[in-house]
Amino acid sequence: MKVLVTGGAGYIGSHTCVALLEAGFEIAVIDNLDNSSYEAIERVEELTGKKIPFYKESILDKAALESVFEVEKPDAVIHFAALKAVGESVRKPLEYYHTNVFGTISLLETMRKYDVKRLVYSSSATVYSSVKEMPVNEQSFAYVTTNPYGWTKIMCEQIIRDTCHADPALSVALLRYFNPVGAHPSGRIGEDPAGIPNNLMPYIAQVASGKLQKLSVYGNDYPTPDGTGVRDYIHVCDLADGHVLALRKIADGQGVYTYNLGSGKGTSVLEMLHAFEKASGREIPYVIAPRRAGDIAEVYADPSLAEKELGFKTKRDVFDMCKDLWNWQSHNPNGYTK
Ligand code: NAD
Ligand code: WQD
Repeated sequence: MKVLVTGGAGYIGSHTCVALLEAGFEIAVIDNLDNSSYEAIERVEELTGKKIPFYKESILDKAALESVFEVEKPDAVIHFAALKAVGESVRKPLEYYHTNVFGTISLLETMRKYDVKRLVYSSSATVYSSVKEMPVNEQSFAYVTTNPYGWTKIMCEQIIRDTCHADPALSVALLRYFNPVGAHPSGRIGEDPAGIPNNLMPYIAQVASGKLQKLSVYGNDYPTPDGTGVRDYIHVCDLADGHVLALRKIADGQGVYTYNLGSGKGTSVLEMLHAFEKASGREIPYVIAPRRAGDIAEVYADPSLAEKELGFKTKRDVFDMCKDLWNWQSHNPNGYTK
């Protein structure tokens, strides 16, 4: 099966490319490198010993997208390409709706034109932002979120569901990722955020490497065991494996399948910080700061549906995530910039 990977040079995309190639899939990648580097693709090639057809194009450019389908003739698409920073989406809502929603429509139209029936879509635990009862299962979805990025995920899920309703031959997996962290154990590919990281673990990694001074822990007065925010962290390689399983599921399926991809365990900010200290052997200075606007106390997955229907179960724990993140960070202090 040949899989077209949109956004395949990005953080989750590059790890998924490795998993797909190792599982015997053929792939091609389209990415405009808006938030990534071609170096990631070269390193995936180096890790797998396989050449990847790569197109530096935007999914918003319909003619370019069509010519990729024309040449590559994919059997399935994994759609990662999107803008993903929550805070930036509040400042630039139109850019987020444009890239994420139009981009998905452009892709669905092109799939229709070239008769491609299988899609894996990158959704997010952000669709559960208003849910109070933990753990969240796929039915907890409440059509409410706190920011434009989250709305783009809710909207795209709905657009995809409606498209599947109109064409029963479509077979789609909507994967709701929890908090992906870590890196490939080789230390050759990993997360390479532009500027100061917004997310907890890349921030901690840059404190450990001396690029940033100290972590601000956003709030220690949440109703959680140690007062800091609780999330469901998942190793990016486990997440990548989840895509291989989802592709196999939709290969001869029909309709829409929705799965949480998480570990099922909640871990607090301070627990993550201490796990990272242990894995890296470095002390992470921190201060307690006010809560960050829009944050919730806790969110973690009920991953039992993915386990039952896909055979998905995380294999790597929080220590593995921290160890592999530190391996990546310490060998690539400036990310892919040589
Ligand atoms: P990323 O920014 O590393 O990867 C996204 C890739 O898409 C980048 O390589 C970027 O250059 C590319 N891209 C952006 N706009 C494009 C366009 N118009 N045309 C072609 N390529 C374009 O992000 P990631 O963390 O790997 O996230 C991948 C997907 O997973 C996104 O859809 C994101 O919303 C979703 N997701 C991410 C997280 C997370 O915490 N990282 C959590 C849940 C869901
Ligand atoms: C984790 C915890 C913070 C930074 C975001 C998106 C979500 C999804 C994943 C895409 C929280 C605390 C953080 C810091 C801190 N992305 N924190 N100091 O907010 O759970 O999820 O990324 O779909 O949509 O919202 O992840 O890593 O930013 O925060 O104390 O400098 O760490 O308050 O409790 P979050 P995060």
